[in-house]
Amino acid sequence: MLAELSPALIAEVKLAAQLLASKQRICILTGAGISAESGIPTFRDKQTGLWENYGVEDLATPEAFTRDPKLVWSWYQWRRQMVADKAPNPAHHALAQWQYHAQTSDQQVTLITQNVDDLHEQAGSAVTHLHGHLWRNRCGQCEIPYQDQSRASYDNQGTMSFDKTLLNCPHCDGYIRPDIVWFGEALPVQAWQTAEEAAANCEVFISIGTSSLVYPAAGLAQLAKQNCAQVIEVNPDPTPNTIVDITLAEKAGVILPLLIEEITTL
Ligand code: OAD
Repeated sequence: MLAELSPALIAEVKLAAQLLASKQRICILTGAGISAESGIPTFRDKQTGLWENYGVEDLATPEAFTRDPKLVWSWYQWRRQMVADKAPNPAHHALAQWQYHAQTSDQQVTLITQNVDDLHEQAGSAVTHLHGHLWRNRCGQCEIPYQDQSRASYDNQGTMSFDKTLLNCPHCDGYIRPDIVWFGEALPVQAWQTAEEAAANCEVFISIGTSSLVYPAAGLAQLAKQNCAQVIEVNPDPTPNTIVDITLAEKAGVILPLLIEEITTL
């Protein structure tokens, strides 16, 4: 597989692997790009990105849910349907393998994600979710978790479908919403604290498959850099991240298996 990459990129992968193998505290931030090769659309990629085709302000704000709860709920049920049969790709598996390997070495590999899918968990990783969970619900009014999940059912062909009917909270009768952080909402306190601590204390920060446009998550790389960490970015396209020391400009599913193989055999 190395042979398919340019000599310059191979050199960068080896440089990154040497750096990573020599350090103990690693913080990884993933974004939608890591799940792209599993068939889940990103948010901002041209043509295919969700926010290229749908309005954020109509679907991912508390105001949108107050205005039209049915529209918002239906859209998230549609996303659940789209994600339900997706599986981790080689990038998710490589990170899980690295975390497993780190248990027997001196390394501490903290994985933070902006993604609401559970592909990191499916691959076997321990992961902190900054933007919530697609598969969890809570009441939009009293905030109590709603256990009945997403009301998936199967038709005769075995296809999973998701009921788009609005659900009401058994405690306060408010509408049930996905447990996802919308624009204008605060991040979960414990998750953010874990992320800030890991970024501030790491020796290498790796940004994978994120456009680095959405704060506060995008500020974690800067926090790491201020505390003298080296920053590695894995993304086939350029980002506004100007503090990157090593850029691995390829798909995560190509780079990460190679990188982790190098790290774990050095
Ligand atoms: P974006 O859609 O903004 O960015 C995805 C990034 O992944 C882009 O920079 C792509 O170049 C890159 N990419 C695409 N395919 C890739 C691949 N195979 N390997 C590596 N990188 C690839 O997604 P995020 O940065 O995750 O918020 O977006 C941040 C937040 O904005 C999301 O968490 C979401 C959204 O609104 C919530 O859901 C709350």
